[in-house]
Amino acid sequence: MLKGKTIVLGITGGIAAYKAADLASKLTQAGARVETVMTEAAQKLISPLTLRNLTHRPVVTDMFTMASEYSEEHIALAEAASAVVVAPATANTIAKLAAGIADNMLTCVVLATEAPVIVCPAMNDVMYRNPVTQENLSRLRARGFTIVEPEYGRLASGKLGRGRLPETARIIEAIEQVLVRKEDLKDKRLVITAGGTREPIDPVRHIGNRSSGKMGYAIAEAARARGARVSLISANVSLPEPAGVEITRVNTADEMKEAVERAVKDADVLIMAAAVADYRPEKMLPAKIKKEDAETIVLKLVRTPDILGSVRGNFIRVGFAAESEDVIANAKKKLTAKGLDLIVANDITAPGSGFDADTNRVVIIDRDGNTQELPLMSKREVAEKILDRVKELFPRKG
Ligand code: PMT
Repeated sequence: MLKGKTIVLGITGGIAAYKAADLASKLTQAGARVETVMTEAAQKLISPLTLRNLTHRPVVTDMFTMASEYSEEHIALAEAASAVVVAPATANTIAKLAAGIADNMLTCVVLATEAPVIVCPAMNDVMYRNPVTQENLSRLRARGFTIVEPEYGRLASGKLGRGRLPETARIIEAIEQVLVRKEDLKDKRLVITAGGTREPIDPVRHIGNRSSGKMGYAIAEAARARGARVSLISANVSLPEPAGVEITRVNTADEMKEAVERAVKDADVLIMAAAVADYRPEKMLPAKIKKEDAETIVLKLVRTPDILGSVRGNFIRVGFAAESEDVIANAKKKLTAKGLDLIVANDITAPGSGFDADTNRVVIIDRDGNTQELPLMSKREVAEKILDRVKELFPRKG
């Protein structure tokens, strides 16, 4: 798996820097080409010479060295990388990465790379638990970085706490998982819906919902990063457009239906994360309703089309179920009624879950009724888990 891969190993100035030597050695023994980049602080804790001898490669220690074999070294390393691994990652470097600061070779490489980035935090437990460190890690997760959580145990201070760099084997396992995922949806075409439809009442008012589009966009970004061709059908979302993804913008359920039907013609997968209105006003009033004209008004609502329930073809169909009670039972009913391959049951009442949150708590249910309950995690991580399950279904669909 690691043979022939280029791993850029970033070492920052935590006491666990000495453990990075073992990681560099094991990666090299497994056949990877390890390009080590050390921050100034890391070099106070472990010698670049150690890394050079273990990897048989020059070690990059500053931005402006002439000794390098590359001319624009940060760009060359960023492009050559199959993956960038920052181990150990200090709170300081994590904060810089979250803010997009590029003030040394390692932070420049991370900013310039399109390769997956794996961050292994290691630090004092109080620094790790500090809300600012946790916020920075959440931002990195949301951007698709893989975070290998530190372990609980004896820290450099002598105290027990969570902050230890995980064993080398666990870090290598995480790198391998990321590399497997990297191209596993190559040549697959995914259609993903995101956001919430708006059904007009008059020229200024509509019936809508609180969907931000974060869940659907996270799936689109994850699928793209795994090599898929992605069509994203986006309803009333104000997030930045994911790179390399074809976007169709729609407003209403009818418009979304039309866009989905067009997009699925040569699709392998349809994933509907959008919150589609179930009802719309029977007709849109041509002029703004004036409050002076009536004390109360009655709107007649009619059903919108069930897009997921009606669209057919030889592709995998995945739905979401936003539920506030009897989550699993209600989701199972929807899976059966719409004839889906998978449904993602979303408990929208759980803290940090559902509409507009950066995290989500979901249960993935298959058509045999098997449930996979996931803990609270970033929407990007939820996206990866859903795509892992979709991938397992390809052999069945032929
Ligand atoms: O966008 P975020 O802020 O990140 O929030 C994410 C989310 C909560 C919107 C998302 O995780 C979610 O749960 N989406 C589905 C919400 C929903 O409308 O569920 P539903 O139970 O009403 O619909 C079931 C499925 O049928 C959904 O896949 C829906 O897209 C689809 N549907 C619903 C109605 C309709 N007329 N046509 C449809 O295709």
